[in-house]
Amino acid sequence: MNHRSDSEPENERRPMNTQNNRVHHLLELDNITKYYGNIIALRDVTTYVNAGEVTCVLGDNGAGKSTLIKILSGVHRQSEGSIRMNGEEVSFGSPREALANGIATVYQDLAMVPLMSVWRNFFLGAEPTRRFGPLKWIDQGKAKSIAKAELARMGIDIRDTEQPVGTLSGGERQSVAIARAGYFGAKVLILDEPTSALGVKQSGVVLRRIVEARNHGLAVIFITHNPSHAYPVGNRFLILNRGVSMGSFAKKDITLKELTQMMAGGAELEQLQHELESATGVSAE
Ligand SMILES: Nc1ncnc2c1ncn2[C@@H]1O[C@H](COP(=O)(O)OP(=O)(O)O)[C@@H](O)[C@H]1O
Ligand SMILES: [Mg+2]
Repeated sequence: MNHRSDSEPENERRPMNTQNNRVHHLLELDNITKYYGNIIALRDVTTYVNAGEVTCVLGDNGAGKSTLIKILSGVHRQSEGSIRMNGEEVSFGSPREALANGIATVYQDLAMVPLMSVWRNFFLGAEPTRRFGPLKWIDQGKAKSIAKAELARMGIDIRDTEQPVGTLSGGERQSVAIARAGYFGAKVLILDEPTSALGVKQSGVVLRRIVEARNHGLAVIFITHNPSHAYPVGNRFLILNRGVSMGSFAKKDITLKELTQMMAGGAELEQLQHELESATGVSAE
């Protein structure tokens, strides 16, 4: 195995590798590399994801965050490296296959139909049905009551599940997508920049859903470029910079300030601060 322990930060706990006493993380990524033609979007990324934890993936635009989750969710295949789920090597050929293995992804555009009702969006083709002889139809009453109950369980009170999803706020729409993933038995919930288009209050709503999903035992992978959204809810932080891992850190091993600096590439941020200070004559501290 291409295991380069010298390049791994000390605080990156590796699972025990002894023959008969091996501890598996829910997901283990080993030396993941991804090329798009001759662009290297990810290089040798090694990390893991645990159930009942929020793993944050942080990085600036172009850092490779979406590429990493597209590999986990079956949209792309890695060029090199391997992924294990519960210790078994996996390779997903499609998002449907990843979902069948319990990996649900909420994309930024949400793949929702704005004019369609909340309950139709909740099921999106997987509605409960009734059957009579050769006839089969959607059990609307059951579908609506399940959607309402599942949303209520997440603290979202939808008066009428007939209302179009387009009438919900951004935070509520994210919440519907998260509730749906939970209902369909996801073990891993991946959220790609769920708060980036939202205001402060709506972001708070989504961050609360993230914590609830984790408390239900899901492994949540939260992608964001905003460290102050990641820090309060995250258990572990993987920082990507131009496709390379800057390491992953448990919360106790990193402060919000350090996280912010590492993400921006500390040196660049300091350089900017000096430039601003000399331009304005005012200290930015
Ligand atoms: N389908 C693609 N084809 C070619 N290059 C891509 C493709 N998707 C992403 N890239 C490139 O890979 C790098 C990482 O992109 P991405 O994973 O989207 O970053 P992030 O989500 O962190 O902003 C960028 O340089 C981006 O331009
Ligand atoms: Mg992205």
